[in-house]
Amino acid sequence: MKEKNNRGGFTGSIGFVLAAAGSAVGLGNIWRFPYLAAKDGGGIFLLVYIILALTFGFTLLTTEIAIGRKTGQSPLTAYGRLSEKWKFLGVIASIVPVVIIPYYCVIGGWVLKYLITYLTMQGGAATGDDYFTGFISSEISPVIFMLLFIIAVFAIVYKGVDKGIEACSRILMPILFVIILIIVAFSLTLSYTDAEGVTRTGLQGLKAYIVPDFEGMTFKSFMGVVIDAMGQLFYSLSVAMGIMITYGSYVKKETDLNKSINQIEIFDTLVAFFAGMMIIPAVFTFMGREGMSASGPSLMFISLPKVFDSMGKMGGVVGAIFFLLVLFAALTSAVSIMEAIVSCLMDKFKLARKKACLAVLALSSIVGIIVCMGYNKLYFELTLPNGTVGQLLDVFDYFSNQFLMPIVAIGTCILVGWVIKPKTIIEEVENPDGVHHGKMGRKGLYTVMVKYIAPIMLFVLFLTALGIL
Ligand code: PHE
Repeated sequence: MKEKNNRGGFTGSIGFVLAAAGSAVGLGNIWRFPYLAAKDGGGIFLLVYIILALTFGFTLLTTEIAIGRKTGQSPLTAYGRLSEKWKFLGVIASIVPVVIIPYYCVIGGWVLKYLITYLTMQGGAATGDDYFTGFISSEISPVIFMLLFIIAVFAIVYKGVDKGIEACSRILMPILFVIILIIVAFSLTLSYTDAEGVTRTGLQGLKAYIVPDFEGMTFKSFMGVVIDAMGQLFYSLSVAMGIMITYGSYVKKETDLNKSINQIEIFDTLVAFFAGMMIIPAVFTFMGREGMSASGPSLMFISLPKVFDSMGKMGGVVGAIFFLLVLFAALTSAVSIMEAIVSCLMDKFKLARKKACLAVLALSSIVGIIVCMGYNKLYFELTLPNGTVGQLLDVFDYFSNQFLMPIVAIGTCILVGWVIKPKTIIEEVENPDGVHHGKMGRKGLYTVMVKYIAPIMLFVLFLTALGIL
């Protein structure tokens, strides 16, 4: 099935694991996971998340990576190789990164802007109430930062799978991990007495993060936690958008997928967990429990600058390394999104990598500019089906993450569970093209998950996103 061509590939298992982890570890780990954990009863959320990662996450990640390696194709053509009738799913899966890349790069540009703000020691200005909204609603500056970010992504993808993507993940991911640990250590040793004379410490904040809080928990609110954890996991592993299929297609048959997939999951989960240990104690110390309810952009771009400011002199330094960390996380994720599109263009239209990269650069820059305009010329407030109010960027985000991705994931489970059968995937993990790896772990679990449980869970998630549940 696999054709020999010059698609390129990872040099080995470690390169693949770090690149896939680079994709998985992104803004979601840093701004979404800690916030959900704080909102959903701390330890309860963590526990539910870990159980889901070992079952549901493992199933989706294995499926996509194995599909990629088996077919040696990116999503646009991979699904058709598995079953002619399911070609359409490949088309939907490849639309997802096209929708995501412009707005992801807009946010990447915001991160870059904040990094530069801190590096030039203007972090104090970032605490002003309108600093963030003033910046994103201005006409030129967000566009410039978005373009700088996108050019960096382009430069990496342009250099190819091994010399570009793998090489940059090999450098950035270990650094990212070390930076997180440093900030965690700093965060846990904080202590602050506020205007009312109340002293709060980082360790108390840690308790709020890890200790399960069952107070007022009902069956219904518990199900809410499960849905949150599932949605987060799904986004965090970068599945259902063709990325893991693409990366899987660059993996050598000699690589043991069993092991690699576990490592990717562990890396992603650890980074999310540590991100919580870095953010929650700091926010708790300086802003108390109320401060912990800020989510998404407002947590990262409004609350945290206030926290850094309260740290005094050290704050500027911590702010700078924090935004460097976020920049690395966003960069390796954006690289994977661009690569998914580039490889589709290469496989389907036989474009050379360089041409494909230029095409994606041009298109995403133009759409990115339009997304930036969503905060000024094209400003609107739209209530989305899930009840949140958003601007253009949120509409892109909703359409890809809440609408298209569940469809792709449900379709993939049905295709694998019922058409090509789980044994095709298990075979690819255990004995790809005559290479023998050990037995796939959790095989029985995998089969039951992919046929029944995962599609049902995903369907519930989909209905919730549509506002039906
Ligand atoms: N998985 C990334 C995260 O957790 C998000 C991401 C989205 C990555 C889209 C690639 C593509 O932040």
